[in-house]
Amino acid sequence: MKLNRRQWLKRSALAGSVGLFSGLPGFQALSKQEIEAFRPRPLYTPIRLGSNENPYGPSARVREAIKASFDDGCRYPWSYEGELLEMIAKKEGLTKECIVITGGSTEGLKVAGIACAKEKKEIIAAKPTFDAMMQYAQLWGTHVNWVPLDQEMMYDLNEIENRVSSNTKMVFLCNPNNPTSTLLPAPRVMDFCETVSRKTIVFSDEAYYDYIEDAGYPSMTHCIKKDLDVIVSRTFSKVYGLAGLRIGYLMARPELASQLRRHVVAFTNVLALKAAAAAMEDRDFYKFSLDQNHKARKSIYEGLDRLALEYLPSQTNFVFFKTEKDIRKLQAKMLEKGVIIGRPFEPLTDWCRISTGTMEEVELFVNSLHEVMGELKG
Ligand SMILES: Cc1ncc(COP(=O)(O)O)c(C=O)c1O
Repeated sequence: MKLNRRQWLKRSALAGSVGLFSGLPGFQALSKQEIEAFRPRPLYTPIRLGSNENPYGPSARVREAIKASFDDGCRYPWSYEGELLEMIAKKEGLTKECIVITGGSTEGLKVAGIACAKEKKEIIAAKPTFDAMMQYAQLWGTHVNWVPLDQEMMYDLNEIENRVSSNTKMVFLCNPNNPTSTLLPAPRVMDFCETVSRKTIVFSDEAYYDYIEDAGYPSMTHCIKKDLDVIVSRTFSKVYGLAGLRIGYLMARPELASQLRRHVVAFTNVLALKAAAAAMEDRDFYKFSLDQNHKARKSIYEGLDRLALEYLPSQTNFVFFKTEKDIRKLQAKMLEKGVIIGRPFEPLTDWCRISTGTMEEVELFVNSLHEVMGELKG
């Protein structure tokens, strides 16, 4: 159901009998020009804060690029990737041969996963993490060697390194990690990648790289420049707001990239290629996206503070917080209030992952959570 402003106000007031967020700088604070240029999604219920989508975009500039490419919709996309490849190569300081465009980075993860399955070897990965690669590789017969997070809810790099053997085809890193939103210390992760990639392939999923607050934080592309066996994945689904168009990319040294390219099945489409190129040029949208994410995340933190709920400081567009309630029960209760929250992440089933949304969505989320936590207590 699409809510107009009056319905939203009513709903928000009902959800949290005391408006926890009255006076919050929200959607209404966006100027007409910002709304036109950056296109916040309309307020529909249930509000979907369970998939880490960007609530803004495609931007007006990207929409124009998509419209202009409609006439090429009758053609296969292969011959349209040149411009985007050049742009990515320039941005990342690599050659075009190092880049493999995929149908969302999920396809990149699966492509890498199948490469392991072919050799009947194992992947080492942390638990919990974003497991698309591992799920897929398991379907094709690969063994996954799961390593629990450490005490600080971070990837246990020491233990992962200890477990690498001649049977390990790949080590999967997700940094910042989904669902914990934590970021590994730069020197340690660099050292890890340089050492371990001399023994096996290291896959660095950098879907949330743009959200990292330290501007100097290194991408693991620096290992590719040293010709090491590291694969890096990126996506246009998050900060660029193009999740529905399905486009991402892998980066690796040229020989490895060419092996990966052979496994691409879905690829992407003409509209997404043009949209991604336009999005890379739309610096205003990029900056706006990061600013709004920062504001929404701060509001989520404030709401959780008021409810005295523990959370991990986030370097992403979502927050992972401790509910001390069974996540499945919480999911059901929140859905009754019109809010979709993150799924369970074994074994942390008393934690919840919530994506940032527009300020109105965040307000509805916090007020609903306030009510539900009260109901589950009673
Ligand atoms: C860590 C991580 N990697 C990859 C993806 C997949 O994104 P996409 O396939 O839209 O590029 C996600 C999506 O949420 C993610 O959280």
